[in-house]
Amino acid sequence: MIPHGRTAPHRRAVLASGLASGLVSGLVSGLACAMLPAAGSRAQAEPGAPSLAALAAKKGILFGMAVTAEQVGLMPPLAAIAVREAALLVPGVELKWSEVEPEPGRFAFADADRLAELGRRHGLALRGHTLLWHEALPAWVAATNRDAMPAVLRRHIREICRHYAGRVQSWDVVNEAIQPGPDRSDGLRRTPFLETLGDSYIERAFDLAAETDPAAILTLNEYDLERDTPWQAQRRQAMLNLLNRLVRRKVPVRALGIQGHLDARRGPLDPEIFRRFIRDVASLGLEVYITELDVIDRDLPADIARRDAEAARAAQAYLTAALAEPAVRMVVTWGVSDARNWVDGNPDMRRTDGLPSRPHLYDDAFRPKPLRAAVADAFRAAPVRPAP
Ligand code: XIL
Repeated sequence: MIPHGRTAPHRRAVLASGLASGLVSGLVSGLACAMLPAAGSRAQAEPGAPSLAALAAKKGILFGMAVTAEQVGLMPPLAAIAVREAALLVPGVELKWSEVEPEPGRFAFADADRLAELGRRHGLALRGHTLLWHEALPAWVAATNRDAMPAVLRRHIREICRHYAGRVQSWDVVNEAIQPGPDRSDGLRRTPFLETLGDSYIERAFDLAAETDPAAILTLNEYDLERDTPWQAQRRQAMLNLLNRLVRRKVPVRALGIQGHLDARRGPLDPEIFRRFIRDVASLGLEVYITELDVIDRDLPADIARRDAEAARAAQAYLTAALAEPAVRMVVTWGVSDARNWVDGNPDMRRTDGLPSRPHLYDDAFRPKPLRAAVADAFRAAPVRPAP
């Protein structure tokens, strides 16, 4: 199995480039925002073309993009694209535990707040990613024992959910909770939360989030659920078992996020298998979101025209299958432009020939790529969702 590692040093990359975080913050709130179109005056991707958010909205789908404070601070054109194309923003790193509560009880909301404010000024919704994840976890959390963990978890979730209460469309409460292995029949991933609190950590987290921000849609977010391989079939089953259990226990989970980092190495996509899984989730009364769409182009041709065409084909096939299911109500791309993309920061994901990755809808000069056209076409072809 190819590891799904992600150790990209997003923050360090900026610091290494000589920019102190204070300057980045200043850029985000000053330079970048000053160059953005004002709320209500949404420029269009190509002259006369509707935004992706508008195309999606016609079908009852919410379209969003993940951005980081660094990207927005360093690249005003990227921020301009995001607020023009998207109806929702997701802070890509700023709400992960290591960023938002680096030391016990010390919360650092400034970077996420800037992104929230950017979205608010342009009328965009906000999505929270993520309250609990086994990655981006400070060492002190991993070292917390079973007596102390309940209070650590409670403070973390309460503090963050309270800070953004009423402003968040949805929260990824637990990210990547499953990882089937020989040692557990439930397929749950061994994390510091599972080890200390047992499987009830998941419902505990959902209950805390729901109490603190009752308006937010609470989700589980997961990868490797779509493809036609025995491994992913096992993961689908583990996820369905988990969702079933949560729904039966009346845990306030309302949606499943499927990440959608498209990577052909992980197996073929059989649209019927993918759609059946979405229907199985929907039959539990849950919505489905595609939360982190991009193309891991590691093994695609070096030639840019061919590579972009293959990436576009992969995304179109994927979205065509997903959007045929009315339970899919949101699509979020895990980035905007290939400039400073997260894939190149990840040794398991980036190309081995040294060429820059091209995972996103806009290239590194902020021009729309065939991938953008593919997403637009998939929205155009999608059936209208019935009103929720
Ligand atoms: C990634 C970010 O994009 C990177 O900048 C960071 O260094 C590592 O994490 N699945 C997830 C996301 O749920 O949080 C990950 O984001 C990408 C994979």
